[in-house]
Amino acid sequence: MKNKNESRRSFLKGSLLLGGVGIFGPSQALAQVIADDSGIKILTGPYLQTNFQDDMHIQWISNKEAHGWVEYGMEPTNLDRIAYGESKAGLRPVGCIHRIVLKDLQPGATYYYRIVCKEIQDFQPYKLSYGAEVRSPIESFIALENRKDEVSFVMLNDIHDRPHSIGYLLDLDKDKQRDFVFFNGDIFDYQTDQQQLIDHFFNPIVDSFAKNTPFLYARGNHETRGKFARTFADYFSEVGYQAFTYGPVRFVVLDSGEDKKDSHPVYGGIVDYDGYREQQARLLEREITSPAFKEAAFRVVLVHIPPVATDPQWHGSNHAASLFQPLLNKGKVDLVLSGHIHQCKFFGPTSGANNYPIVTGGGPKDGSRTLIKLHADMKQIKVEMIGDLGQKIDELFVYRK
Ligand SMILES: [Fe+2]
Repeated sequence: MKNKNESRRSFLKGSLLLGGVGIFGPSQALAQVIADDSGIKILTGPYLQTNFQDDMHIQWISNKEAHGWVEYGMEPTNLDRIAYGESKAGLRPVGCIHRIVLKDLQPGATYYYRIVCKEIQDFQPYKLSYGAEVRSPIESFIALENRKDEVSFVMLNDIHDRPHSIGYLLDLDKDKQRDFVFFNGDIFDYQTDQQQLIDHFFNPIVDSFAKNTPFLYARGNHETRGKFARTFADYFSEVGYQAFTYGPVRFVVLDSGEDKKDSHPVYGGIVDYDGYREQQARLLEREITSPAFKEAAFRVVLVHIPPVATDPQWHGSNHAASLFQPLLNKGKVDLVLSGHIHQCKFFGPTSGANNYPIVTGGGPKDGSRTLIKLHADMKQIKVEMIGDLGQKIDELFVYRK
């Protein structure tokens, strides 16, 4: 980064002065484990996501069509509650991709749970025949406390199909005091099939943290590519625009889409990212006028492609900047976290452009990978940029005015 002598950066907001818990210890590698003699298996999971309020989403993938549920409770020896997937028009879900939402959880309480999966062997109109049932070991998580006055998370970006980097980089964060883990796009080069999702993302995160701590995923431009890109979102609670408040921060997740023009030959005429970005700009325009956005102590935007104008050949960056930047300025955003450029970089406020700091994570090659840590309380946001040797590259403070 520039200005190596300056190990500490800070921002005074307004004047813009530069300046899960597993009770059984680290869980066994569940991802490849669960099977019985009949052949039904949990291919990966459970992995957690959340609405950042009082829900926890328990997800997994089975190898066969199955009916799934979650048994849970507040004691590991008494899983006295049961939750099923969301019914649609009266029908409980049956399939291989399972998502069970545990609702109305008590903030800060520890919950214990296991996933259960029962194979549907023969589905006749008037007779349903079940096969074997598989259960995971008991896991635990702490229900999120979104009304507390602080938030912590770590960000990974631009892993580009190097699954070993996920656990490695997360282990650089020794204290692991995090409410969630954030993946800021381009975790893959392109989407091929379910096995790639399992091997290059779900198994590494399940083995590292995802049974006990939820994650957030913002799609990068590379996740939009490949024959499986249209199925990608089925495996996640949410992919694309979202806004939520957690602690002192109002978060807005934007999907910056692809980097080239929609008319570029590589897309074959089947994409509409200009329209998609315009749709999100309309949502952002509404968001910045909302009480939740205005009243938050801080406003942080999470988006894969940094919304700053770059080389004219990169239409996506320029289009995102032209749409999002005026709104981010108008909304007095405090910080943007991005990736995409494969450099750990700091973009300070620039006259006529972004009025807010932008931090990009690096990657994907050894030596340029990063772990970005963020902690915010009611007074300040602290961002630490950590290199893949564990060294602190830089840090940034944004102060509440
Ligand atoms: Fe990218």
